[in-house]
Amino acid sequence: MIKLIAIVEKNLGIAENGKIPWEFEEDRKFFREKTLNSIVIMGRKTFESIPNAPLKNRKNCVITKKNIQNDVECFRTLEEAVQKYPSCWIIGGAQLYNYALEKNVVQYMLITHVNAEYNPDIFLNRNHLSKFSKTILKKADNYTICEYQRLK
Ligand SMILES: NC(=O)c1ccc[n+]([C@@H]2O[C@H](COP(=O)([O-])OP(=O)(O)OC[C@H]3O[C@@H](n4cnc5c(N)ncnc54)[C@H](OP(=O)(O)O)[C@@H]3O)[C@@H](O)[C@H]2O)c1
Repeated sequence: MIKLIAIVEKNLGIAENGKIPWEFEEDRKFFREKTLNSIVIMGRKTFESIPNAPLKNRKNCVITKKNIQNDVECFRTLEEAVQKYPSCWIIGGAQLYNYALEKNVVQYMLITHVNAEYNPDIFLNRNHLSKFSKTILKKADNYTICEYQRLK
């Protein structure tokens, strides 16, 4: 199954100036637990934004037209990556999320909704969420984790 995992603020912003402008240790742990020992697929800018990339104990795939000299597998398109790894997590950023959702390749999503507004400059496109049914998995004081299943 092709899955997507993200953390967003109130307006579905995912980052500001090339960085995630909040810090949630619980979400970091949740992301790690969910993606451990699996295939993670990311855009080149996300790869460059991760300190100490590649992510440990996961197969890291990067979508890029560039040559990245690192311990990762590169693909020129998302389609090539998911053809090789049909069971994977798409882990960002906005360009890759929105492309994958536009192309309807995502069947399942875990989205952590932070209950605050920031000043993000890139966003998940809200229109895509209507293609999914939503279930709340966890409600905490400052965030809610939701599971999204693709509607038939
Ligand atoms: N809040 C969250 O959950 C979350 C998660 C992940 C990342 N982020 C943040 O997101 C930011 C990066 O997102 P971004 O949207 O700027 O960039 P991105 O999607 O991470 O990377 C964009 C690059 O990836 C390649 N790419 C992406 N989609 C492609 C496609 N459909 N086909 C071919 N190539 C594609 C291209 O690489 P080339 O130019 O090399 O060809 C493109 O320039 C960072 O600040 C990161 O911290 C947030």
